[in-house]
Amino acid sequence: MARILITSGLPYINGIKHLGNIVGSMLPADVYARFERARGNEVLYICGTDDHGTPAELAAAAVGQDVAEFCDAQYDIQTHLADEFGLSWDHFGRTSRKPTHELTQHLADKLADNGLIEERTEEQVYSIDDGRYLPDRYIIGTCPHCGHENARGDQCENCTKVLDPVDLIDARSAISGSTNLEVRETKHLYLRQSKMVPELRKWIASQTSWPHLVSSIANKWLDEGLQDRGITRDLKWGIPVAHDGRWEDYKGKVFYVWFDAPIGYIGATREWSEKNAEGGTNTDTGWERWWRTDKGADDVKYVQFMGKDNVPFHTVGFPATLMGSGEPWKLVDTIKGFNWLNYYGGKFSTSQQRGVFMDQALDILPADYWRYYLTANSPEGSDASFTWEHFASTVNKDLADVLGNFVNRIMKFTASKFGEKVPEGGEWGPDEDALAAELEPRIKAYEGYMEALEFRKATAELRAVWAAGNEYLTKIAPWTAFKTDPEKAAFGCRMGLNLIHLFAHLSEPIIPATARKMHEALLPAPDVLPWPGGNLKDMFQRIEPGLAFNIPDVLFQKITDDQIAEWRTRFGGEE
Ligand code: MF3
Ligand code: ZN
Repeated sequence: MARILITSGLPYINGIKHLGNIVGSMLPADVYARFERARGNEVLYICGTDDHGTPAELAAAAVGQDVAEFCDAQYDIQTHLADEFGLSWDHFGRTSRKPTHELTQHLADKLADNGLIEERTEEQVYSIDDGRYLPDRYIIGTCPHCGHENARGDQCENCTKVLDPVDLIDARSAISGSTNLEVRETKHLYLRQSKMVPELRKWIASQTSWPHLVSSIANKWLDEGLQDRGITRDLKWGIPVAHDGRWEDYKGKVFYVWFDAPIGYIGATREWSEKNAEGGTNTDTGWERWWRTDKGADDVKYVQFMGKDNVPFHTVGFPATLMGSGEPWKLVDTIKGFNWLNYYGGKFSTSQQRGVFMDQALDILPADYWRYYLTANSPEGSDASFTWEHFASTVNKDLADVLGNFVNRIMKFTASKFGEKVPEGGEWGPDEDALAAELEPRIKAYEGYMEALEFRKATAELRAVWAAGNEYLTKIAPWTAFKTDPEKAAFGCRMGLNLIHLFAHLSEPIIPATARKMHEALLPAPDVLPWPGGNLKDMFQRIEPGLAFNIPDVLFQKITDDQIAEWRTRFGGEE
């Protein structure tokens, strides 16, 4: 049994996530976690909200709320939506909780002890009208690299280049829009990443399982010359720099959100172990088994999921923090990075409320419709584009016609001819051999793609498995056979019901709620539906003659042209 630690990029707390956010982080991480659990591995899937930084402060200010209160409310909303979406993490933490605070301050101390922190007096943009500094997203302007007019002070959304607020052209305050800005001197801590280049290079070069998208971004960062990075900010909301008598003259400053956010993976794991500790104690050490190589994390396989804009911070920034501490922290083994999912060719955008957000999506249709569509169209090799037309045709063809129709057709027919119990009689023959011969390699391929984190190909293989079941039924045609050869019809029906059972097990990682419904129509479902191993012929004996079943409601409703038109009007179609 392998031990697998899974994390997905921590969503910013500032509002409900859109489909473009989840397609490249939480959803594939969940699919993979479910798959590995099904295979009997010990999985720990950790996620949480990224509470600090300017996005949270700005969003709270926009609705006139206190930041902490705003974040509490948003955390509850995100937790609820994730649950409805079927995201099965073991814990959903928050970077604003004590464990991440403590770990962040601890790691900064260690880095300083190892000579990797430097104090610098630097120039920061100060807004005279706002009476404050404007770090990161508090300032917007034109990107000096690509000319994008709404680049934020920390990173250009368009070309993904990391920016310094003083580089922006025609800069203005994101709070008031004021251009009455001046550059002032302020003191900050810098992480001396440049000193760590040889160590980072060596580590990155040794990572043979990273996909090309990820290693190329990492190497590009190193090749462009790794800059030392400011890890503190002139902000109120965040993890205080001054602590336990250290950095007393930094009172009123906090760590930069990108310094503490990934540390949140460890902090959230600590929250998880404290929660699980009998009676709950904040000294529980269960989390160390996953994160400290001296405490058993040596044999953990650690897989991270994230959008491509997050890759630099996970291939360079976070590893530099962990390595630089000189402590035995577990480093990531595989990073699955994703391109963008666009909305009709343009960007999904939280700030512009463009695209489909989780609450709206779930309001329209249950999670499995979205989970299937997004996994089948994962932006892996390149950017992908969401359109209502494409969504509808995928749902109608794959989910309604292939899977849903299969389940409904065979159950209804069996019930009408044999009653709501599995018929007996008939025997395995050449048609079943042919079916098994087609399914076996497909299931292997599906498993292989899941293992390789290739979600598009995995989904295509799953669909081919469903289609093979349909073809088998068409060939056997129990509805015709019933008149001439009732034994053969009975056997075909029994095979059909066994196929439903097999499909339930195989489909669970992607469409968990539907898979449970399918399973429970036949047999009670355990918490985790085990991955079908061994001989397929044995698998086809599970649904035994005489077993009572019940017919579930139609699994997937077809999407109509009227609905497409309605949603296009509601959400906007073309650019
Ligand atoms: N909140 C960031 C984003 O949505 C991701 C942070 S990943 C973390 O882009 F691990 F660093 F938290
Ligand atoms: Zn740019």
